[in-house]
Amino acid sequence: MFDLRKERSKIKVLTLPFMDSNLEAEKRVEDLLERLTLHEKFRLLSGRKRWHTKRIRRLGIKPFTMFDGPHGVRPDREGKIKTTYFPSSICRAATWNVELSNKFGIAIAQEIRDVGAHMLLAPGINIQRTPMCGRTFEYQTEDPYLNKELAVAVVTGVQSQRVAACIKHFICNNQETNRHTSSSEVSERTLQEIYYPAFKGAVEEADAWSIMSCYNKVNGIYGSENEHLLREVLMGEWGFRGFVVSDWVATRYTKSTESCIKAGLTLEMPIAIKYNIFRLAQAYKERRFTEKNLNDNIRRLLRVMFLVGLFDDEDALPKGSRNTPEHQALSREIAEEGIVLLKNESNILPLDMKKLKKIAVIGPTAIKKTHLGGGSSSNYPPYEIKPIIGITEKCKGKVEIINSPSDADITVIFAGLRHQEGMDIEGEDKVSFGLPEDQVSLITKTIKDNPNTIVVLTSGSPVSMIEWIDKVPAVVQAWYGGLEAGNAIANILFGDVNPSGKLPITFPKVLSDSPAHVSERTFPGDENLRVFYDEGIFVGYRHYDTNRIEPLFPFGYGLSYTKFTYENLKLSKEKIAGNEKLVVTADVVNSGEKFGAEVIQQYIRDIESSVERPLKELKGFKKIRLQPSEKSTVSFEIGKEDLSFFDETSGNWVAEKGKFEILIGASSRDVRLQGKFEFLG
Ligand code: BGC
Repeated sequence: MFDLRKERSKIKVLTLPFMDSNLEAEKRVEDLLERLTLHEKFRLLSGRKRWHTKRIRRLGIKPFTMFDGPHGVRPDREGKIKTTYFPSSICRAATWNVELSNKFGIAIAQEIRDVGAHMLLAPGINIQRTPMCGRTFEYQTEDPYLNKELAVAVVTGVQSQRVAACIKHFICNNQETNRHTSSSEVSERTLQEIYYPAFKGAVEEADAWSIMSCYNKVNGIYGSENEHLLREVLMGEWGFRGFVVSDWVATRYTKSTESCIKAGLTLEMPIAIKYNIFRLAQAYKERRFTEKNLNDNIRRLLRVMFLVGLFDDEDALPKGSRNTPEHQALSREIAEEGIVLLKNESNILPLDMKKLKKIAVIGPTAIKKTHLGGGSSSNYPPYEIKPIIGITEKCKGKVEIINSPSDADITVIFAGLRHQEGMDIEGEDKVSFGLPEDQVSLITKTIKDNPNTIVVLTSGSPVSMIEWIDKVPAVVQAWYGGLEAGNAIANILFGDVNPSGKLPITFPKVLSDSPAHVSERTFPGDENLRVFYDEGIFVGYRHYDTNRIEPLFPFGYGLSYTKFTYENLKLSKEKIAGNEKLVVTADVVNSGEKFGAEVIQQYIRDIESSVERPLKELKGFKKIRLQPSEKSTVSFEIGKEDLSFFDETSGNWVAEKGKFEILIGASSRDVRLQGKFEFLG
């Protein structure tokens, strides 16, 4: 059939070189850049209508469109367009399944394409420095290695669909209190070892096409005008070829137009403040920035426009799709694999329907949906299965669901947070580490009425359990599990799925045990709004290990309905030198009675070091699936980079000669196999 639009686009292709999709991408970029007037360049530097860049009609430059966010595409804030709601990032991280993160990236990018956009404002990869951060649920983990592996997988998945991933928020946006004005005071070693790796990996290994600057200052300078962070580190050292976009109105308190231009901020969103046309023109006239600076910034945006196919025929681009059964099944799979079984005394779980007549399902979060709230990562899915619905459906015709614990064989209490004020929400840190008082009372009262009580926690961050943990036989950490959450929880409780999630963050007993909670100065900051990262590299388990603090549940921890035995550790060599690699292998056997998955974690300890180092650091993990009695051999490769620390004096990564220890385990505190080797330098 004759299609006028298509015919026109063919004519354009013949007109200008940059429109020719057969031409090399960089040539297209340069051709288009040369054709832009100064005024048009200025127009491209800021957003329009919250999610778009401005159209340049003369050259056929369409608006480049970007949407939130980490857990599902949100094209509008009213929910007119429905999209798949995926589990919160902390839940996805708890799967420790790199392949699932990659599949998630592909699926969410297909949804971005389907709504006609070009960039996903995700993943959020700030380190979980404190369980009190309002956005802990949106971030992945406290550990830089796990963070990097998952970030690379997501970005690779997203961009395989020719959709740009925008990794955010660069950097040290680790709390919400005073996020627009505070300064994260952090050492170079800490940045290099803890906060940079996921961003660096996403750039160097996955070629992330965009990065979002943070609201906060880093060592006194706002992220959007931080020349050191953006030009020197990101672009200079890591070779970033994409563009920097500001967090929404993050430029508000920056010094000037030229400081942002010079630092390398391309796009100011959602509206022009520092990149207001008149301000730009004035600053340019007064030679406060050069056209070379400006061109470099613009070139980066144009490059991404070509990468996502903004000028190409729709038919030549990957197809979008949305709300498909496949995406919904993937959302459920992530939720199931991310759920962490924290406690299971006398194997009260999984529940056996044949032995039960009545189950009491109570607690405020049993009947709550979680897709709304939380801020920019809110979603509007076509449906969401609440926990009560998931359980009721599964039990239909088999077990009666009641609400009175004293009349039930088993009680399941749903407690947790709900993305309300002060409870896992963007813009505010949590107001309390504990569960709301009424929930604590409900748990303690219920356990008296029915000792067979299971607590299921829906939250995106660790909560205090100290008042009740010893009294309940089983606890399940279910996070915010996406649109299939209720089904995923039911599948875990009744054993259709064997839990395999492991904590991506340490659960402390009390908040004061947590590294950022030593004083006001470390959180939420001093009277001058400076937040001192005094704990340095000792974030998460690095802190608990070094200071010999017993956590409630350690990093990497999670139970299964089966058992795994670790044996036969082998190191390929006793000594390695230079760039030689060491191969570590271990056998893991499913010594229980159920099919299950295990995450084998490899930590490394530097036995003798000239600087203070953590007692162990994660440097590898593998998730495997085994039938009862089945055995699998896992292997890890270790090189010099896995042994190194960042030396502030020389400004280099250094691996010192000496002995190192390999620790293979089921969590950071459940080390099953140990071996030593020597690095000869
Ligand atoms: C958030 C970003 C988000 C942006 C757009 C900001 O408030 O910090 O993560 O992408 O809004 O919604």
